[in-house]
Amino acid sequence: MNKKVLVLSSSPRRGGNSDLLCDQFISGAIESGNEAEKIFLRDKKINYCTGCGICIDRKGKCSQKDDMTEVLNKMVEADVIVMATPVYFYTMCGQMKTLIDRSCSRYTEISNKHFYFIVTAADNNQSAIERTIEEFRGFTYCLDEPEEKGIICGVGAWNKGEIKGLPAMEEAYEMGKAV
Ligand SMILES: Cc1cc2nc3c(=O)[nH]c(=O)nc-3n(C[C@H](O)[C@H](O)[C@H](O)COP(=O)(O)O)c2cc1C
Repeated sequence: MNKKVLVLSSSPRRGGNSDLLCDQFISGAIESGNEAEKIFLRDKKINYCTGCGICIDRKGKCSQKDDMTEVLNKMVEADVIVMATPVYFYTMCGQMKTLIDRSCSRYTEISNKHFYFIVTAADNNQSAIERTIEEFRGFTYCLDEPEEKGIICGVGAWNKGEIKGLPAMEEAYEMGKAV
């Protein structure tokens, strides 16, 4: 109740399978009285981290001026962060990895958050998402007191919208509701 939920939807396919699961999660979270916002990363300009190291010297100030400033503010302010990606070549998609790398300037402030991961894949086997989940854990491993609260496994969905007939839709709603 009354948590600030930030959903980071990284698929380039708006209304695609992971994006639909994000919407389900949000519906559930709002239903139980939380505040929820989705950022569709493709709408944002987020450049690659250049590894310049300026953020280390300038304590949290990135040398680049793009939409990552706004996204990072929201990540720092959120109670709950939901990270959603399609599986691309058995890893996360590039948009999500780019966002993670760009958290470099302020990742030490992303502390005491609850995390949920949403992953979709064409492969029917649950193991298809394992490497991607481990990649997310590589990110949260670097944070202060993260709590991994849930994983939505949207396997067996290739075409846009195919997730609609699968149990992950209800699971995402229920997980959002219980946030
Ligand atoms: C570039 C690319 C690579 C993909 N690689 C895999 C893969 O390695 N394993 C798999 O099961 N599905 C793979 N897929 C299928 C997507 O994971 C699947 O269609 C997923 O539902 C897409 O989610 P979205 O609609 O949220 O983008 C790939 C799709 C694309 C476009």
